[in-house]
Amino acid sequence: MSEAPATVAPDPALFDKVVNLCKRRGFVFPSAEIYGGFRSTYDYGPVGVLLLRNVKDAWWRSMVQLRHDVVGLDAAILSPPAIWEASGHLKNFTDPLVDCRVCRERFRLDHLDDAEVCPNCKSEHSFTEARQFNLMFRTYAGPVEGAGAEVYLRPETAQGMFVNFRNVLETSRRRPPFGIAQVGKSFRNEITTGNFVFRTREFEQMEMEFFVPPVESAKWYEYWCAERLSWYVDHGIPADELRLRAHDEDELSHYSSATSDVEYLFPWGWDELEGIANRGDFDLTQHANHSGEKLDYFDQATGERYVPHVVEPAAGATRTAMAFLLAAYDEEEVAREGQGKGEVRTVLRLHPRIAPYKVAVLPLSKKPELQAPALEVLGLLQPHFMCDYDETQAIGRRYRRQDELGTPFCVTVDFDTLDDGAVTVRDRDSMAQDRVPIEDLVEHLRPRLGL
Ligand code: GAP
Repeated sequence: MSEAPATVAPDPALFDKVVNLCKRRGFVFPSAEIYGGFRSTYDYGPVGVLLLRNVKDAWWRSMVQLRHDVVGLDAAILSPPAIWEASGHLKNFTDPLVDCRVCRERFRLDHLDDAEVCPNCKSEHSFTEARQFNLMFRTYAGPVEGAGAEVYLRPETAQGMFVNFRNVLETSRRRPPFGIAQVGKSFRNEITTGNFVFRTREFEQMEMEFFVPPVESAKWYEYWCAERLSWYVDHGIPADELRLRAHDEDELSHYSSATSDVEYLFPWGWDELEGIANRGDFDLTQHANHSGEKLDYFDQATGERYVPHVVEPAAGATRTAMAFLLAAYDEEEVAREGQGKGEVRTVLRLHPRIAPYKVAVLPLSKKPELQAPALEVLGLLQPHFMCDYDETQAIGRRYRRQDELGTPFCVTVDFDTLDDGAVTVRDRDSMAQDRVPIEDLVEHLRPRLGL
């Protein structure tokens, strides 16, 4: 397994540009903004919800749809303490927390550059003793609060796959090696959130547990490390902004024999997008011991009974969506029509599968004689592609808006359309324009979008 050399440098200015664009264009809003915002939580706006859905769909497509050996699951978010007792989360899912006695700010000890200096008020030796803080959100099910009614919001989707191992094995006609995939929300009471949607308390994960015969686990670990790294490249992140970093011995969880992170070169430096772990038989053994249920596999061909080992690629959907935005952001100088001077065009060069809208339909003007055919073109395209429709402002401004949304193609209906039944198709990246008959439009766009 090789690491990509750090040939590119992080770009700190990029972060603010992308955060601003997210707010301005409706990707991401601070949650409960009219009440002053709510503690590092975010709402995904009209285009953000499409982007995030596309990230999750692209993951599901390659992890489930295009494979014969992975099936899906959607397990409950609310879960009983027994699950988290068995998984070790009640005891071990903690971060070391320190308080500054001077400014009263709280920090994760392992995130401090200098464990003796408060990064907020710069006081020295002002920290309390570190104490372990459990990151799980606890609440109560039913009308009575208290012991016996305690439940947890899952801090990862993974445990849902382990506790359903037997259900899936018995109903899906799969045998190891096979996987169970799940996409959904997870919750962690992070001490320090930040860097926009990079670390939040409510986020979405895309996880797959791949159950294999024990002797095959090293092979499958290598396989999934390579597969997962390629997935990001295939969906538009430049290879030199990605790397696979193997954990050192002292970073490994006690049950993991190997873990590698897929890292992206964020504006603040290399940071994690996804972890791929060789988890051994830890999870199934723990749940078998705590539940009293057998969670093993009997191979009729060999007469062998074994507890499968697990290789787990675990990615963050919200974090990945942010990485796609950062990697796609571009500014270029383009000529302004009729003037010598150039203007700066901002464009999100998103992969078409990830782009919120695939096509925008734009009547050249708001005139009623153009509106009707433009809406007809929209109706023709909508069953095939996610489309936007926009008839306000000058056409040039509308092209710029679609560039900032990452829309790969704009389709313009003009007065010639009324005579020749054709439209202008503008390419986001090259800005080249083609005249295409309306009747050929779907088949013109489909291969160019690669969908
Ligand atoms: N089941 C293994 C597991 O949950 P993890 O490394 O803790 O492993 C997997 O989480 C991925 O989930 C991370 O690589 C990251 O992309 C995402 N993730 C974890 N905590 C997050 C947070 N607080 N905010 C956003 N994404 C997070």
